[in-house]
Amino acid sequence: MVHTAGDAPTGPAPKLRPRLSELAAQIAENAKLLEDYIESQGLPYPSFAPDGPEKFPLPPPSTPELEKLHAARSQVLSATSSLYDLTAGPRETLQWLVWGFNDTSTLHVIHHFKLAFLVPETGDISFDDLSKKSGISALKLRQVLRYAMVKHVFCEPRQGYVGHTAMSLLLREEGSAVDAWIGYNTQELCRTGPALLPSIEKFPTSEEVREAPWGVAFDGQGFFEYMDNNPESAKRFGVSMTMWSSGDGLKVAPLVEGYDWGKLPEGATIVDVGGATGFVSVEIAKANPSLKFIVEDIAPLSLEEGKKTLARDHPELVERFEYNHYDFFTEQPVKGADVYLIRFVLHDWPDKYVRQILKSQIPALKNGTKLILSDFVLPPANVLPYWDERTVRALDLIMLKAYNSNEREEGDWRRLLAEVDTRLRVDSITRPANSLLWIMEVTFVDE
Ligand SMILES: C[S@@+](CC[C@H](N)C(=O)[O-])C[C@H]1O[C@@H](n2cnc3c(N)ncnc32)[C@H](O)[C@@H]1O
Repeated sequence: MVHTAGDAPTGPAPKLRPRLSELAAQIAENAKLLEDYIESQGLPYPSFAPDGPEKFPLPPPSTPELEKLHAARSQVLSATSSLYDLTAGPRETLQWLVWGFNDTSTLHVIHHFKLAFLVPETGDISFDDLSKKSGISALKLRQVLRYAMVKHVFCEPRQGYVGHTAMSLLLREEGSAVDAWIGYNTQELCRTGPALLPSIEKFPTSEEVREAPWGVAFDGQGFFEYMDNNPESAKRFGVSMTMWSSGDGLKVAPLVEGYDWGKLPEGATIVDVGGATGFVSVEIAKANPSLKFIVEDIAPLSLEEGKKTLARDHPELVERFEYNHYDFFTEQPVKGADVYLIRFVLHDWPDKYVRQILKSQIPALKNGTKLILSDFVLPPANVLPYWDERTVRALDLIMLKAYNSNEREEGDWRRLLAEVDTRLRVDSITRPANSLLWIMEVTFVDE
């Protein structure tokens, strides 16, 4: 099903009085649907045990049951969260809410000391032996790890011994997306937490990247500036982002299938602005044999990596690809292409900079050129299922913390485009099924 922002109901009332038994019934009904599917397909049953699956088992894309099962999982997650908070009550929920930093700080210690590697993959190890191996007192280990165990990271299979769970085992994969994600968040991004208040107090209306909480936490360096100065961090950030692109909502497939690339003229050229390695273009190219691509990015390493991977994995596509170094704050050098695609880029930038990026493209556009923007379009509150709502609100907050930027609602996008150039006509704003990223088709009309 395709959702258009225009169809989105405007601000339904929140459900403030759900009944405990109704929530429990919703959970039971949908959990059964999921369980039946898992068992009928012989998929690994979800568990905390070390042999449990790494991801909740769902059908592969384009299976008929996919939407139904996604909805069932989403219902279980939403109802469970409401039931949990209601049953704890406002006072206790608040008391625990403010202790969220305990989760990050314990993961920080676990990750830094590589405790997951010191605990054997199978079997267990005593706190005393773990203390000898790590150099941390058995008491401190017990305090940190028993807290983590409450969240199913490690377990205590017998008193005084530490063993793995499915989650802690994931921490043994050095260099993996999970490893990079935990490292980047516990060492770098989490520092924007205590910096949020000072940034808002000092720069309450700023649209400057250097004045974002990230800048306050890192001696005035803007996010990308910091990454330029710390190549190892930049590499880790890149790897950590694949946690998102491999997640269901940010896959490339919805952009490949959710836009009618076939209506473009034979041999049309697509410029992938801020395209990183060009992995998005590669997927579009595979499905559309006549299209040509120019991948542009400011990061030479990404372009190099893209070129290398293309030659290795898809030699048949090489002739249809070009990779150009380009800073999108300067005039677009590729004139008169058919499409300028800007995917998952603009949400990193405050309005002032988005206007500059888009204005830099205008001199390259001819009458009829398409600008395809693929990014988040925030719905009003209370529209999305809880799990998706949590994701987009968290990302919106991270945009503020990292860049002084924000996720945008449909009205924000329309306003920005009109401010850039009145010749930009918004043709459609749609959300492909199971995608967090929307597709905005804009035509340059200059007759
Ligand atoms: C979040 S990634 C998006 C990558 C890709 N388009 C996607 O859909 O996942 C943002 C990209 O913008 C690039 N970038 C940042 N500043 C840039 C600039 N001034 N000019 C061109 N590219 C830039 C980054 O190097 C990075 O590859």
